[in-house]
Amino acid sequence: MLPGAGMICVKRVAAKARTLRIMSDGTSLHPGSSLSCRPMSVTEALETRMTCRAFRDTPVSGDTVRSILSTAARAPSSGNLQPWRVWALTGDPLLKLEQHIVAKIAAGQLAEPPAEYLLYPENLEEPYLSRRAKAGEDMYRAIGIERNDPSGWIEQFKRNMSFFGAPVGLFFAIDRTFLQGQWADLGIFLQSVMLLARERGLDTAPLGAWSLWHRTVREMLGIPESHLLVCGMALGEMDDAHPINQVRTTRAPLEEFAVLQGFEPSA
Ligand SMILES: Cc1cc2nc3c(=O)[nH]c(=O)nc-3n(C[C@H](O)[C@H](O)[C@H](O)COP(=O)(O)O)c2cc1C
Repeated sequence: MLPGAGMICVKRVAAKARTLRIMSDGTSLHPGSSLSCRPMSVTEALETRMTCRAFRDTPVSGDTVRSILSTAARAPSSGNLQPWRVWALTGDPLLKLEQHIVAKIAAGQLAEPPAEYLLYPENLEEPYLSRRAKAGEDMYRAIGIERNDPSGWIEQFKRNMSFFGAPVGLFFAIDRTFLQGQWADLGIFLQSVMLLARERGLDTAPLGAWSLWHRTVREMLGIPESHLLVCGMALGEMDDAHPINQVRTTRAPLEEFAVLQGFEPSA
């Protein structure tokens, strides 16, 4: 068993999680079963990772967070620059920040312009436009929010900025002078964090929306001006029974994104 996983393991088995996670080879995993407490294969961690949008309030220990982050730092980076900077919050500091932002949203504010960076290109084209629309539609349908329901959208935005109830909020920043290469390095680091969380029976939600609140986050966390807030990430134990966590996104088939040359035909 991994350090920090024990308490989560016992609780999740007792809770008898109802949701099955289906692996690509057809086998299934109960997120709450003892399977989530043993070291996982990379394939299992990848296939069971999903964006979790409802968490239980079960605490996550500082040792678990330290172990995830220090192991994730084994991620490769161009020139071994290790360009990632992380701020991890739990308890009162997290609550204070969430309440601050939720109050701003309730007062009608939706961001702190100017944006640190654009989350998407301004003219997103196909097939990306449709993929983005489907991900949003499936998510809102699962929680009964109609396309033309702004108040429902605002409520979901508030949940987004409350880390979906997760006990831990992570923030990732990068030096402003860094270029595409270092952003790619940060992406590898982020995925490493998410897979290591799975190995410990935990789930995550990467949250680009936090970049919209860069001023407040910078001020409350003491992030230097020299650094750009890239995203947040929720970390904790999944509420497997919540309808929003039943949503599974799809992926384009291999032929749509990969070209293989010189190999034997697929079996
Ligand atoms: C950098 C990044 C930022 C994201 N920001 C948000 C966000 O602010 N809110 C949200 O609900 N999901 C966010 N997501 C989750 C994506 O919508 C999700 O990864 C995608 O739809 C694929 O679904 P999956 O993660 O369940 O496989 C983000 C994902 C990434 C990688």
